[in-house]
Amino acid sequence: MLIELRASATREGRQTRGPSRIGPTVSEPLMIRGRPPRSTAVALLQAQGLPVSDITGEHLEHFFFVGSDGSPTGLVGLELYRADALLRSLVVAENARNKSLGSTLIDHAEQYAASKGVRSIYLLTTTAEAFFKRLGYERIERSNAPPSIERTREFAGLCPASSAFMSKRIYPIGEP
Ligand SMILES: CC(C)(COP(=O)(O)OP(=O)(O)OC[C@H]1O[C@@H](n2cnc3c(N)ncnc32)[C@H](O)[C@@H]1OP(=O)(O)O)[C@@H](O)C(=O)NCCC(=O)NCCS
Repeated sequence: MLIELRASATREGRQTRGPSRIGPTVSEPLMIRGRPPRSTAVALLQAQGLPVSDITGEHLEHFFFVGSDGSPTGLVGLELYRADALLRSLVVAENARNKSLGSTLIDHAEQYAASKGVRSIYLLTTTAEAFFKRLGYERIERSNAPPSIERTREFAGLCPASSAFMSKRIYPIGEP
C-alpha cells in the first residue's frame, strides 16, 4: 500500500524538536510517499555509495521518498525497534539539494516514528554529522547503543567503525 502525505518544504516551522533552520523558504508543497519500490531506493543510494545490500521489502515498509518511482529525488528510511529506531539511507539527488528536502524528510521520518511510539532515534554517518547536529542530533558513544540498534547490520558492520553515532530524543505530539 502506498502512503501519501503532504509536507511543506520550509526551513522554519519544524514540528519535531531541535534547532530550527534559518534560510530562505521554499513554499511549494512536497509529496512524500511511503514504501518506495526497491529499485527506486537502490538507485538513489547506490549513486551516493550508501549501503543497499541489506535492504529488503520489510525495510521498505518504513521508507519514504520524494519524486517519481523512476526519477526519485529524495529518500529516508527507518528501522523500528519499539521505543528505538535507526534512521538510515537519507539521500537527496545532487540536483535537488539545498532546498530543504533533506531536512523535510528527516522531519517526516521523526513524526512517523513518534506516531509509532518511538522515543529515541539513532543514526550512523560518515558524511553528514554537522547536518544532523543542526537538526538536534547529538553524537554519543557507540557503547551507549541499545541492544536492538547494536544488532542492526548497519551498526554491526555495514557502516565503518569511524562513523559518527548520533541520537535524538523525540516526543509524541502534544507531550511536553
Ligand atoms: C545530507 C543531504 C541529505 C542533505 O540534503 P539537502 O536536501 O541538501 O539538505 P537541506 O536542503 O535540508 O539542508 C541544506 C543545508 O545543510 C547543509 N548540508 C548539506 N549536506 C551536509 C553535510 N553532509 N554536512 C554538513 N552540512 C550539510 C548545507 O550546506 C545546507 O546548509 P545551509 O542551509 O546553511 O545553506 C544531502 O547532501 C545528501 O544526500 N548527501 C549524500 C548522502 C549523505 O551524506 N547522507 C547522509 C548520511 S546517511
